[in-house]
This record gives sequence, structure tokens and C-alpha cells, in this order.
Amino acid sequence: MKKSALLALLLCQSAHAEEADRRQILCLTGPQREYVLNEMRSLLNGTQQILGALAKDDMKSVAESARALGLTMKHKAENPLHEVLPKAFMMLGMSMHKDFDAIAADAETLKDPKHTLKQLDETMGKCNACHASYQIRSASAGSVSDSVNARLDEVARRGRQAMPFDLEQTTHIFSKTPNGGIQQVVAKDNTNAGQIDAIRQHLSKIAKEFKHGNFSTPAKIHGDDMPGLNEMRNAKPGLILIDYHELPEGAEIAFSSQEPTLIDAVHRYFDAQLSDHARHAHAGHRTPDAYAN
Ligand code: HEC
Repeated sequence: MKKSALLALLLCQSAHAEEADRRQILCLTGPQREYVLNEMRSLLNGTQQILGALAKDDMKSVAESARALGLTMKHKAENPLHEVLPKAFMMLGMSMHKDFDAIAADAETLKDPKHTLKQLDETMGKCNACHASYQIRSASAGSVSDSVNARLDEVARRGRQAMPFDLEQTTHIFSKTPNGGIQQVVAKDNTNAGQIDAIRQHLSKIAKEFKHGNFSTPAKIHGDDMPGLNEMRNAKPGLILIDYHELPEGAEIAFSSQEPTLIDAVHRYFDAQLSDHARHAHAGHRTPDAYAN
């Protein structure tokens, strides 16, 4: 399987309907979140320094403080997290860093505090625009609420009835791809022939069922209203390709389609799998090692 084809998949409990905060969720690991918020505090601190220098008409310090927040800003989140953060977020961030470089350059050449203030006003509009659009959630299991835990317990119980292998002895990996996704189940211990055999038998059986539009096994575990299920069930034969493959420690099922609505259905189905199996499943994830937890 080509690892490069896998997209990072985000695993956070999805926002509940009654939640007031409707900003797009950036789902980060604990250390990734801390990294971004650290940059943020540096931005606020740097902005204060610029204002302080302006109040003293010290344009040299204005330029220095602004340049520290420019495109070469140390520890800016875009560097290590460019695979994890959405493109629109990255672009807004880069555009803000570019602004600070322009503020620095103008402070050196024009030395006009009023001009700098005007630039700062516009740049801080970008802080606000981004804050209005995004919130950060950390994907740590510790933040899972009791009601979510109850749901996870119930899913695990139903899973034990419908799946012949042991959730504790196997790893489930759901990786979204541009055309669909790949579901892998592997034994944690690669010498555990019993689990590997059970994985292969089960996945090859449900892959056959899926090919015939029969999604009764996931429906039994996750409920009939599982996201994406209806679309996948009702897809015309051949529009979703389902491929079963053996892996050395287990097996995988690849879902692919050329139809955007069906690709979307597969992605929503994968998201639902992940949030329901949160304690036993992983997103196919390629974060820089330093930030993986
Ligand atoms: C490209 C997006 C983006 C831009 C631009 C941006 N921020 Fe943020 N900032 C965020 C996000 C996302 C959060 C977390 C918000 C949340 O989860 O509620 C945040 C949080 C913060 C926090 C809280 C830090 C903490 O420790 O909790 C501060 C302070 C902050 N930003 C300052 C700024 C300032 C000042 C600017 C502009 C000079 C700025 N940010 C520009 C995205 C951005």
C-alpha cells in the first residue's frame, strides 16, 4: 500500500448539535495544541512590544519586534504542522506573518508611527478573522465525557458480538484517501496466529457483503443511522470499489470511488468508525514524529 496516498485523518469527538461554538475544529494532539498556543502567546506578546515601541516613537524597536513575527518567526506553527493544519488556516497565518515583515520594512524606511498603526490595525483583523473561524480541540482520550464513554462501551459490546477478534489484541486503522479510504485491522502481536486468522476471515466476509451493498455488520455495531451508510448501501453496483487484501499481521479493505458524493460518504463512515471506536481505533496519521503522541 502506498503510504503517501494516505491523508492525515483527524480524530476528535465531533461537535454536538447543542454546542454553541460552531467554529471549525482543528483536531490536534496535546503537544501540537500546546505548540500552536505558544505561537499565539508570542504573537500577542510581540504585538504588545510593537505598541510599546510605537508609544515611544522608537521605530527601530518597532521594526525589530515586527520582524520577529514575520515569515521567519521561530516556532511558527506552520512549519512542523503543515500536514495537519487546513490550507485556508495556513494561508491566513502566512499572510499575517508577511504583514509583520511589511510593518518592519516600512518602520525602517518610512518611520511613520501613524502608518504603522494603520498596518497593525489591518493585520490584527487577520488575528480576529482566524479566531472567528477556528477552535482547537485536543484529541486526548482524557477529554472524553461520560456520555461519550457510555456510547463507546456500548459500541465495544456490540462489536464483540459482531467481530470474532479481540479489540484489545488488535489495532484498527482507518485512513482516508483522496478516493475513499483504507480500513486495516492488524494483530498487536504479529505471532498471534489465532487473531490474524480471525481478522482475515471476518474482513474477507464483510468485504464480500459490502460488494453486494450489504452493510448489516457495521449497522449492527454502530446503528442503522451511521453516517455514510445509506449512500454506500444505495450506491449503484460498481460505483464503489471494495478490495480485500491480506496483510502480514491481518487484513485490509480498500474503498474507492470516482463519485464525490460516495467519496464523501466513505469519509463520513470512517469518521463515525473512529469516533465510535475511539479507544480501539486510530486514524491513519502522518504527523512529524516529535508531535505524535
Ligand atoms: C491562522 C489562524 C490564526 C491567526 C492568524 C491568529 N491566531 Fe491566535 N489562535 C488561533 C486559534 C485557532 C486559537 C485557539 C482558539 C480556540 O481554540 O478557541 C488561537 C488562540 C490565541 C490565543 C490564546 C492563547 C492561549 O494560550 O490560549 C492568543 C493570545 C492569540 N491566539 C493571539 C493571536 C494574535 C495576537 C494574533 C495576531 C497577531 C493571532 N492570534 C493570530 C488561530 C490564529
